[in-house]
Amino acid sequence: MSNTARNAALGLLLGLTTAIAAPADDGSGLWLRTPIPENAYHMDTDKPISPTMNIVLSELSRFRQRNWAVETDKHRNDLGSEGFEIRIMNDMVKIRAQTDIGLLYGAYHLLRDQACGSQITDNYYVKEVPYYKYRMLNHWDNLDGTVERGYAGNSIWKWDELPGTVSPRYAEYARANASIGINATVLNNVNASPKMLLTENLQKVKAIADVLRPYGIRVFLSVNFASPMVIGNLKDADPLKTEVAAWWRDKAKEIYTLIPDFGGFLVKANSEGQPGPCDYGRTHADGANVMADALKPYGGVVIWRAFVYGQKPQERVQQALLEFQPLEGKFRDNVIVQAKNGPLDFQPCEPFHPLFGKITKIPLAMEFQITQEYLGQSNHLAYLATLWKEVLDSDTYQNGPGSTVAKKIAESGMIAGVANIGDDVNWTRHPFAQANWYAFGRLAWNPDLKADAIAKEWLAQTFTPNPAFVDPVCDMMMSSVPAIRQYMMPLGLAHIFASTLGNHYGPGPWLYQTGNESFLKYASLLSTNENVPGRKVFDATETELGADRTKKGTGTVMQYNAPLCDQFNDLKTCPERYWLWFHRIGWKQKMPTGDTFWEHLCGQFESGAKTAATYPGIWESVKIYVDPERYNLVLGRLKLQAREAVWWKDACILFYQSVNKLPLPKGITPPIYDLAKLKRISFPNNVHFCPKPEDVNRALDGALKK
Ligand code: GCU
Repeated sequence: MSNTARNAALGLLLGLTTAIAAPADDGSGLWLRTPIPENAYHMDTDKPISPTMNIVLSELSRFRQRNWAVETDKHRNDLGSEGFEIRIMNDMVKIRAQTDIGLLYGAYHLLRDQACGSQITDNYYVKEVPYYKYRMLNHWDNLDGTVERGYAGNSIWKWDELPGTVSPRYAEYARANASIGINATVLNNVNASPKMLLTENLQKVKAIADVLRPYGIRVFLSVNFASPMVIGNLKDADPLKTEVAAWWRDKAKEIYTLIPDFGGFLVKANSEGQPGPCDYGRTHADGANVMADALKPYGGVVIWRAFVYGQKPQERVQQALLEFQPLEGKFRDNVIVQAKNGPLDFQPCEPFHPLFGKITKIPLAMEFQITQEYLGQSNHLAYLATLWKEVLDSDTYQNGPGSTVAKKIAESGMIAGVANIGDDVNWTRHPFAQANWYAFGRLAWNPDLKADAIAKEWLAQTFTPNPAFVDPVCDMMMSSVPAIRQYMMPLGLAHIFASTLGNHYGPGPWLYQTGNESFLKYASLLSTNENVPGRKVFDATETELGADRTKKGTGTVMQYNAPLCDQFNDLKTCPERYWLWFHRIGWKQKMPTGDTFWEHLCGQFESGAKTAATYPGIWESVKIYVDPERYNLVLGRLKLQAREAVWWKDACILFYQSVNKLPLPKGITPPIYDLAKLKRISFPNNVHFCPKPEDVNRALDGALKK
């Protein structure tokens, strides 16, 4: 039987054996909401099929609308190694691809359309090829089982029981990722333990890689630059020493013997206390190249992070460009430099990272955060696709108009998202945080997709396709990041959290003031050099607030190409969302909007809090469409979010009033909290936990005005 005929027959066979699983209501089924189908392949054949084809056929047993068939066609170069085409032929839905993985993506596409309620009619035709080559999750998971900030509990990787026990969750994870096109994963934290590379741990990594492989997912590891010294017993980790290079070569050989399709290393070096090449007077290029040479024979890549600061007395947001521009042309061709979307640190609102507009030779990858480290963590609904779209669609003007960030990162072909997944039953704790995992995968596959279209797809699959549910809830999701920006850090304010080193939770603008040098130094919001203008970046004074990053200030605007540089430099043309990012503004200054800056700022806090206050009611209005378990979980969190929005608003307004002595502008709801009590709120400053809703509620009860 030919491949085509055999699979067509199989399709007919399987098309009849459909099982409908009851939708789970604990959220564990994510947007798929069905368990992994039983192995549906029962055909006698002399030619065994691949594990991936087995998954394709099993998954397609869920497709009920028509008969179907799958076919690999080696000549379809236009589809690449992961693309697919779906068309109706002879009354049958036919998926074609060059590879089994392409067929798997096609199968998930078809099943998504079915779940969203689309009718697969006679003129149905789809052809898709992913935009980026590496669509990657970065786990910040530690070998001791914790996760950096623990948004959804502990790590899903159970290092203690591996490799002997392989949790069924690994396959569920792989399946969920494959269903949205994610094809790469870094298993451990960028603050990497050198022990990750011990042979006993590599055996565990191999066990995970074996589960992920049939789903088209390659495994990568974060590595600690000092590994040759710490676990290899070398005197140091100087990248130019032959014994250090030999250690990396041997380690690469060992890894590839176990995991032939291993992807490569992700490295955080000389940043926030991590070791790196600068410890030996070497450059980031020297450091990356020694690993790149070791991985090269096997096709592996080094992903070197651009998140470096604190090495020199420069303004933090300028440092990556100052560090990496002189290294253009000095990296091996299998090195990719990974930059966060903005130059500070995943704040609710930052302009795109200057590297994307200024670097010409080094391939750059994008690092987004799927976690909401600075957007209410797993307690707030923050639909991040709007933020990511804003970044991807930003024009850097590097090669004239239309030079979007999305196109720039296509040069490396790599887009990564810091994973928000933990061992909670529903994976992400806040049910709506699943939407961010979903949206990241969809945008990594196709950055041209619209944020609202992705939200609707996710809602339809995760809850119900009924527009009476989908439309209002989609509107709520779309309004969430704009609202958070307003109630937390409007107009380009940034990093005014109640803790810098630890949980990054709740407001603390009072900490970022001159006189609190330890905070300021860590946050590096200012230069560590007294003589650099703009030292008082977010320092609120009696007269003004904001960061002077204009040409007359720290000069950060010069890191952007024309016309952005001049646009950002002039408050009249600077987008409102970046006013305080680039400018220091007088409280009484008249704004282009006609009001004073103080009135405008207070209006932002007020408007954000008002939007958040509508969320519980919106959710209550769709109650009949949602199972009680997820309904209650979401409702409790939306109420907390509305309350926290007032916390942020009151904390910021009261604090700034204590400095500028101005009255509360008209139309602003009077604060219900007491500033002195708010300043005393603190949660365990532990990077492994997101504060619990009940603890936040209790703390806020105690901070109310008497
Ligand atoms: C932030 C975050 C850290 C993280 C770091 C990084 O500073 O708070 O937890 O390690 O970014 O991206 O390396």
